[in-house]
Amino acid sequence: MEGAAARERRHDGVPIDNRAAELAAGLQAERACIDPKFLYDAQGCVLFNAICELEEYYPTRTERAIFEAHRATIARALPSRIQWVDLGCGDCAKSRAWLGHVDAYRYLGVDIAADWIRREVAALGRQFPQISCVPVEADFSGDFDLHGSLDDPQANPPVFFYPGSSIGNFSPERAIEFMAAICREAGPRGSLLISADLRKDRRTMERAYADDLGVTAAFNRNVLRVCNRVLGSDFQPAEFAHEAVFDDVHGRIEMRLRAQKRQWVQWGASGRLFESGEAIVTEHSYKYTPEQFDGMLAAAGFSVRNMWTDPRSWFGVFLAQR
Ligand code: AVI
Repeated sequence: MEGAAARERRHDGVPIDNRAAELAAGLQAERACIDPKFLYDAQGCVLFNAICELEEYYPTRTERAIFEAHRATIARALPSRIQWVDLGCGDCAKSRAWLGHVDAYRYLGVDIAADWIRREVAALGRQFPQISCVPVEADFSGDFDLHGSLDDPQANPPVFFYPGSSIGNFSPERAIEFMAAICREAGPRGSLLISADLRKDRRTMERAYADDLGVTAAFNRNVLRVCNRVLGSDFQPAEFAHEAVFDDVHGRIEMRLRAQKRQWVQWGASGRLFESGEAIVTEHSYKYTPEQFDGMLAAAGFSVRNMWTDPRSWFGVFLAQR
């Protein structure tokens, strides 16, 4: 038990009691919700990696193809002697493909799980001995704070790298705030290299979040196990059905778990009655038009903006500069 709790605490750096309180508040809301960060425990990360390989989940391989096709052009648009700031670096795999093409003197791998990013960033440093590779433990989903780890941005302009269309999991307002904070940190010569999933036909988008093998359903239901561990609740994941629907008005996929029967879920001295058919919202994934996302970059303070896309215009890679 203690091992599991320690793992949870390490997972996002937030003390476990705060996480329990946050989960309880969401589950008690009129429209029950769970913050999507809770999807990514160890099991959730494995399932998410499996999602990225699915035939239905086009974003990962489409982004890879755009990077491969345009890497040289994008690299040429970047200044020299940069600080490459990998936001949500994970195993550093996406940056590994860039570091041989850009003139980086320093790499900052930013993530929330301290113990393993240290290992991954050290391995990257062995592969690129000329680049000083530094792990930075930070949860940038809240306030954007790199704890003073950037060197002088005038001398060595930072390039913030935020791939994977993860920006789509923020609300548009939060996304602009987040990119504005990056714009301030970037200084006059810095850049933001960021991906966003683009709006397309409903069927393609919905299939990407409701695959035939049920991997996304398992990823979604797993969050109830996270609740059981962190909150001490007694959710039965099999009693909730996975749903992913594109909401035309907000321009987002809404992922939910729908109660299959009336059930009481208990945690501590508290709990909630879920009526049959009542849903818990677990994630929003916004899909933008190129113009919408360009407007958000402008609102965040970036005046020079370029986009690269795939032949079907399904996915966008944006380079934004002051
Ligand atoms: C991490 N993020 C960009 C994924 C997405 O597409 O919104 C998370 C995901 N949820 C279900 N499938 C993938």
